[in-house]
Amino acid sequence: MSAKLIDGRSIAEKIRNKLRSQLLLRSKHRKPAPKLAVILVGEDPASEIYVRNKHQACEDVGITTLDYFLPKTLSQKKLLTLVQKLNKDKSVNGILVQLPLPKHIEADVVLEQLDPRKDVDGFHSFNLGRLAQERPQLRPCTPYGVMLMLEEIGQRFKGKEAVVVGASNIVGRPMALELLAAGCTVTICHRFTKDLAKQVGRADILVSAVGKPAFIKGKWIKKGATVVDVGIIRLPDGRLTGDLEFTEARQKAKWITPVPGGVGPMTVAVLLKNTLLAQELQGKR
Ligand code: GUN
Repeated sequence: MSAKLIDGRSIAEKIRNKLRSQLLLRSKHRKPAPKLAVILVGEDPASEIYVRNKHQACEDVGITTLDYFLPKTLSQKKLLTLVQKLNKDKSVNGILVQLPLPKHIEADVVLEQLDPRKDVDGFHSFNLGRLAQERPQLRPCTPYGVMLMLEEIGQRFKGKEAVVVGASNIVGRPMALELLAAGCTVTICHRFTKDLAKQVGRADILVSAVGKPAFIKGKWIKKGATVVDVGIIRLPDGRLTGDLEFTEARQKAKWITPVPGGVGPMTVAVLLKNTLLAQELQGKR
């Protein structure tokens, strides 16, 4: 068996096309375009690429962006002052603080300062809490993107064994909450998990968000599983790869996401979707 590929690029394009039409219609009704403020502190090359991609994707669908490229020496206090200013600015609908931040800045403190209704990444404790209560508002982009991909292939969730590898606040934990809300029996694996191969082998739906090449062995995967690779790692030769031993995993799975062209484009598409939702939420205030 060779698994079918879950084409994140084309699913993301469909989402972007729908958003473009929605925003065009809104502009015909003289509603302002949503505006997203993007803050990048320092010169991390990967972050610069992500921010450029987000900027382009926004322009492409008709979302206005306000980019802040700030020096890596910026103080936490100055960053907090900027976030507070953007929170108050009624013309700004979404605020994205690109991670990682330089070491002298506490990311948790900065994210907690965001107005939850402008938190288009869904990282604020309010948004994570709402997801945990199955009353989501702004949902973390990558896990939400994974759910949209799985819905697109007609994945069933109720009663399925879902295994998430990685327990970060931005992917693993919210991913588990999404799968739980959808009716899966969820296991979260992390650095203290004793027998990773055994846990992975139970998964009808496997989501790996570790960031280590070939970390998940193909032979561990249950026959017929749906496998989602959230890892994006640049190899020394410049190629991108994910967490899976892809060729071997493809022999076991029924559905599998490639890297690149899998989850990555979905994260950006959901960011755009969240920015429009943020504008709508603020309109109800
Ligand atoms: N760094 C890596 N992924 C992300 C993301 O989805 N959002 C932000 N803000 N920073 C990131």
